[in-house]
Amino acid sequence: MDLTGKTALITGASRGIGAAAARLFAEAGANVALVARGREAVAELAGEIGPKAMAIPCDISRYWEMDQAVQACVSAFGRIDVLVNNAGVIEPIAPLAGADPGAWGQVIDVNLKGVYHGMHAALPLMLAAGGGTVLTIGSGAAHHPLEGWSAYCASKAGALMLTRMADAEYRDRGIRAISLSPGTVATQMQRTIKASGVNPVSELNWEDHIPPEWVAKALLWMCGSETDDYLGGEVSLRDEAVRRAIGVA
Ligand SMILES: NC(=O)c1ccc[n+]([C@@H]2O[C@H](COP(=O)([O-])OP(=O)(O)OC[C@H]3O[C@@H](n4cnc5c(N)ncnc54)[C@H](OP(=O)(O)O)[C@@H]3O)[C@@H](O)[C@H]2O)c1
Repeated sequence: MDLTGKTALITGASRGIGAAAARLFAEAGANVALVARGREAVAELAGEIGPKAMAIPCDISRYWEMDQAVQACVSAFGRIDVLVNNAGVIEPIAPLAGADPGAWGQVIDVNLKGVYHGMHAALPLMLAAGGGTVLTIGSGAAHHPLEGWSAYCASKAGALMLTRMADAEYRDRGIRAISLSPGTVATQMQRTIKASGVNPVSELNWEDHIPPEWVAKALLWMCGSETDDYLGGEVSLRDEAVRRAIGVA
């Protein structure tokens, strides 16, 4: 996949899946806008990638920050072709009746409203340019209740519906919206899950998780028309056919 001349804005690019995607998209020729709250971490990664990258410190749960991030990306690179809604949080891990309602809502603000904020800010620019690709990191948690994860499961179910909505409303105007369910990935999020000791996911071993670089490869593949059959739906990285297509089987 050649992304020369294209621009991708990647949320949650300070570490884990987002950082791996930023490196790979830049290698594929894209300009990359790196969005996360951690100012130092995105600045460091942008420095490593070089002039194709810009760091944009931003909390995606605040619409005005996400909107400014998209505007900054377009000011610097002239366009936005791909939006990767990757930023996400899992805590609080707590039973539904025991979780703090404010903290519970913050998960919705990041994982669900953050995705909406990205779409709302980027779609008008993509539509004006004739189209674009909106990839959102989903999860098996969108489909299955997991003990202690009510906020996470509800947010991921909602985010999947936003992909379906973006497809329903904008496919005929050139918007390619697809969700990616990666399975379990060796990142900070899995360390947090392990430390919680709650539900069977916390019992998995580190070797059970796939590397974030596999997820980055899937995201890059999803930028191409080869994956148009998935528009408005979900790619699963547990699917052997998908793994073969991206060369990690
Ligand atoms: N790891 C897994 O097993 C797994 C499985 C399924 C789905 N996912 C999904 O994959 C995505 C990436 O997670 P990961 O595994 O790479 O976890 P991670 O290493 O914890 O990375 C999460 C990223 O999101 C950013 N972030 C969190 N809150 C933010 C906010 N309010 N505004 C902007 N950025 C924010 C973090 O940066 P800052 O803290 O610097 O803001 C960080 O860059 C998430 O959506 C997650 O739900 C992960």
